[in-house]
Amino acid sequence: MHFPKFDNIIGTSQSMNVIFQRIRQAAASDINVFVLGESGTGKDLIAQAIHRHSKRAHGPFLPINMGAIARELVASELFGHQKGSFTGATATKIGSFEQANGGTIFLDEISTMDESIQVSLLRVLETSKFQRIGGKRFIKSDVRIIAASNEKLLNLDDIHESKLREDLYHRLSVFTIEIPPLRSRGSDIQILARYFLKQANAEFDSDIAGFHDEVMRVFQTYPWPGNVRELKNIVQRAAIICKSKNIKLEHIPERIRTTSHKPAQALTVPIGLPLSTIEKLVIQQTLEFTNGNRTRAAEILGISRRALYNKIALHKLCNKITVSSL
Ligand SMILES: Nc1ncnc2c1ncn2[C@@H]1O[C@H](COP(=O)(O)OP(=O)(O)OP(=O)(O)O)[C@@H](O)[C@H]1O
Ligand SMILES: [Mg+2]
Repeated sequence: MHFPKFDNIIGTSQSMNVIFQRIRQAAASDINVFVLGESGTGKDLIAQAIHRHSKRAHGPFLPINMGAIARELVASELFGHQKGSFTGATATKIGSFEQANGGTIFLDEISTMDESIQVSLLRVLETSKFQRIGGKRFIKSDVRIIAASNEKLLNLDDIHESKLREDLYHRLSVFTIEIPPLRSRGSDIQILARYFLKQANAEFDSDIAGFHDEVMRVFQTYPWPGNVRELKNIVQRAAIICKSKNIKLEHIPERIRTTSHKPAQALTVPIGLPLSTIEKLVIQQTLEFTNGNRTRAAEILGISRRALYNKIALHKLCNKITVSSL
């Protein structure tokens, strides 16, 4: 089976195609990038792909999870310290910015950083220079920054609610890549499930052919709060316990089977609307659900692609893409 992809990032939805294009653009330039998306949407994969395709590919790629480092150690981790600069600094430490010279730093969970570190980071972004803790000399480092956050940071209200400083946000968001959650790019679910099954077959030396239709239906309506990571885990687990030719509902955890009975997205239509307006609303919402994929929208609506095109023209609808425009 053919998997539409960019490196190891699989996706067939319109938003993933836009993202593939954004990765290419980011890799061809040297500007800093801000990757936004819920947990498990593939931010790490995207950061690695940008580095691998950039002119820095032969330099280091240094991922740093800001949320996983003790608060008091973050500055020393990033900028290093001189021997004796604080209690416990028994030797000089080279920080990530120095280590990553000529390469890329991936700063994950950036909005968990303390305010003072955000100010230091902003200064580094503006001057490309920094000082080790306790050091006098300014050190220059040629580093590209890819930052990531799983917070919703789409407008100024979101930013004010977040711990991320507005000035740092503006500095980082010159080039952003927003990954929509899996539930709003329904057309990726099937292809990802098949891809993870193929991986699981190779890993566990099994030969499972595919998924029963009802499993795919459940996958299609479940809201996937853990996004692609959750889907990958569910497929792996199912592949381990499945002894039949295809994965069946019994191989899927109960919580997924039960929560998915409700449709992920519902449309409430007030009484009094003319039928033509209702038709327009349903088509618009379905196109948003499939992320602009007209073939899938036509399938869901039970009409031909041509009929859908005619209705799109009739209602003067255009596809809405949720990823920031190019
Ligand atoms: N489009 C995709 N194609 C293939 N695998 C994917 C895709 N998106 C995510 N994955 C897989 O899902 C898992 C989670 O991805 P990743 O770690 O990149 O997410 P993340 O957004 O960085 O999550 P977090 O916010 O929790 O750090 C990984 O195993 C990754 O390989
Ligand atoms: Mg990550």
